[in-house]
Amino acid sequence: MVMSFYVTTPIYYVNSTPTLGHAYTTIAADILTRHHRQRGDETYFLTGVDEHADKVARVAAEQGLAPQEYADRIVGVWQELPRRLNATNDFFIRTSDDGHKRFVQGFLQRIYDHGDVYQDVYAGYYCYGCEEFKTEDQLVDGKCPIHDLPAEWLEEKNWFFRLSAYQEQLLRLYDERPDFVLPHFRYNEARSFIERGLRDFSISRATQTWGVPIPWDPDQVAYVWADALVNYRSALSYAPGEQLERFWPAVHLLAKDILRFHCIYWPALLLAAGDEPPKQLFVHGYLNLDDRKMSKSLGNVIDPRELIDVYGADAVRFYAARATTFGQDGNVSVDDVRERYERELANDLGNLVSRTTAMISRYRGGSLEQTAEAPPWDADALRETLIATLDRFEITTALEEIWVLVRRLNQYVEQSAPWQLAKDDERAAELTAVLYNLADGVTAVAVALSAYLPESAARILAALGQPADDLSLDRITRGTAVAARGIEPAPPLFPRIELPAAAQ
Ligand code: MSP
Repeated sequence: MVMSFYVTTPIYYVNSTPTLGHAYTTIAADILTRHHRQRGDETYFLTGVDEHADKVARVAAEQGLAPQEYADRIVGVWQELPRRLNATNDFFIRTSDDGHKRFVQGFLQRIYDHGDVYQDVYAGYYCYGCEEFKTEDQLVDGKCPIHDLPAEWLEEKNWFFRLSAYQEQLLRLYDERPDFVLPHFRYNEARSFIERGLRDFSISRATQTWGVPIPWDPDQVAYVWADALVNYRSALSYAPGEQLERFWPAVHLLAKDILRFHCIYWPALLLAAGDEPPKQLFVHGYLNLDDRKMSKSLGNVIDPRELIDVYGADAVRFYAARATTFGQDGNVSVDDVRERYERELANDLGNLVSRTTAMISRYRGGSLEQTAEAPPWDADALRETLIATLDRFEITTALEEIWVLVRRLNQYVEQSAPWQLAKDDERAAELTAVLYNLADGVTAVAVALSAYLPESAARILAALGQPADDLSLDRITRGTAVAARGIEPAPPLFPRIELPAAAQ
């Protein structure tokens, strides 16, 4: 049976340019999408941008531009991000798309018609960084600790969503689906938040004009979150393609900063609109620089485009999956990127491919012959482990499992010492078998890595004369490599990088 897999990233605010933190979620979503394609699933991958935030309007005003004009100018760098990361998103949504705005109005109208919206006055401290009201105990010296920005007093007559009415239904949903939110400690966090009691929240803004007009009260615009969350549904209604609705419900990836919006508000809004809640949510941690969340407002960022310029997309994808356990917080640094590039990509993987191709070229004139001796590793077990771990979104663990085989193959080269076997004519058959096992293992590694390192995987397969069009997981098995001719010593997969003196 063909399964369907619909994955989303948060839509990123366009008030500034992308950081490695934004690239992180996009890379993770792409790894999962490619993996599901390898399983033969039908996939849909959505990413995009959130334009209707007040902070976007503020930046536009600082630059003397209308918000839409500002968004139109900056959106290119956001659209370029997935392309440069080699991410295979099916659509890139902008919340200023007409199709999205129309859908949001219909969606909010359904909630209104359902009787879940009422008018009230709200007054409180508001963080424009989070686009969220804060209680006084969430502030430190009057500032939001996440953005280090002073919270502003806001008092308005708004339209409110009756979130409190959904408490029981949400708890039931959580009870019925113990894996609704992963990792489990995030599930517990969300569930106990619901248990403590839910407060209604305002879904409109009276003092702003930048946003989607409320259909029954066009003097107000939709609160940016009531607009943005709906993107996950709206895209399926107008993106190019047939019957995209069939992909709902989605798997949402997000960082812990926006857990409450996604794990509580969003399912409740969907229930109120008469829609199915998401399939699952995975909440990952923060990439930190110097132990603080990497963010533009704190000024501590790594620009993913600069890293790609130096190391290439595959290395950045690798680093994102590898550097910190997906789900936990972790520190990142440019030095660490370089260190892993040299030690793991160039030495462990790159050398393995260079040696394998060089030895087939040298000892067998570039011909690879299939042999029957079983190698001392179990590729089938790796395939099953990949499926099981990636079903739990453990992209770091899955990559580590692939790396176990990479290291095992390097060890196999040392232990079987083909250069010794080559000196002894009586051991010719043994050498042929060792070279086949190596090429076969490296082929399985390339297929397994293709979700993480799509360019390098294709180069490895080509270097070994193996087909690269079918990347099905079934190829991660013993005997997957086909006989081939004309194998030549492969040039380094991850060449040494000379940094300009200023960057050293
Ligand atoms: N626009 C909202 C999301 C609306 S979704 C309906 C928003 N935008 S954001 O630009 O602030 O992006 C936040 C998301 O970017 C995080 O949830 C995470 O996916 C990613 N990250 C940005 N910086 C990050 C880190 N330093 N570390 C990990 N992820 C980070 O919130």
